[in-house]
Amino acid sequence: MSGADPRVRAVLRLAPVIPVFTPDDVDDAVQVAQALFRGGLPVIEVTLRTATAMAAIKAMAEAVPDAVIGAGTVLTAAQMEQVKAAGGRFAVSPGATDRLYAAARDTDLPLLPGVATSSELMRGLEHGLDTFKFFPAVQAGGAAMLSAWNGPFGDVRFCPTGGIGAQTAAQFLHLPNVLCVGGSWLTTRELLQARDWAGIERLAREAAVLPG
Ligand code: 3PG
Repeated sequence: MSGADPRVRAVLRLAPVIPVFTPDDVDDAVQVAQALFRGGLPVIEVTLRTATAMAAIKAMAEAVPDAVIGAGTVLTAAQMEQVKAAGGRFAVSPGATDRLYAAARDTDLPLLPGVATSSELMRGLEHGLDTFKFFPAVQAGGAAMLSAWNGPFGDVRFCPTGGIGAQTAAQFLHLPNVLCVGGSWLTTRELLQARDWAGIERLAREAAVLPG
């Protein structure tokens, strides 16, 4: 790859929060996408942790074409291809391997790989990327870690995810090297089981105005 893929930062700049959503039902997933989009969050990471995830990505992308639906928990090159075929616009991975970096190039799918150490970050830089998911953010050092990284890696930008909630998002968002945060607090199991689309929309509305 010559130069970092500018599409990754463009996606991360669309909203201060990327909801991390694990779908159990395709029709409900469409309701979730509509609620989040109505609430002002156009970017959604759909984790590949359930059998319905790929079908959910396809249905959400078709039902809300102005939303940017991507896949999370992408672990393999084969999944990169499946995400692309399903209409996913980006891929997020908890870590990264040389195969995954190669698959991002081969599929031309923007990849936001997870890093938790300086060496993982440097490996990503060697692959030509400049934007990463910091995962698991709270467990791996939180905002202090990102501040420390801003010294040696001042040109790198992050989407921290993992352990972040509505009350703690702002402490990450005000960091100069953070473009947005990710989190599952907008689509909790309780909200999904209650099919509380209005509640999800309300949380999205609150998240959408968090100061970046
Ligand atoms: C992820 O896949 O990015 C995380 O599981 C989301 O983290 P959270 O559930 O702590 O928000």
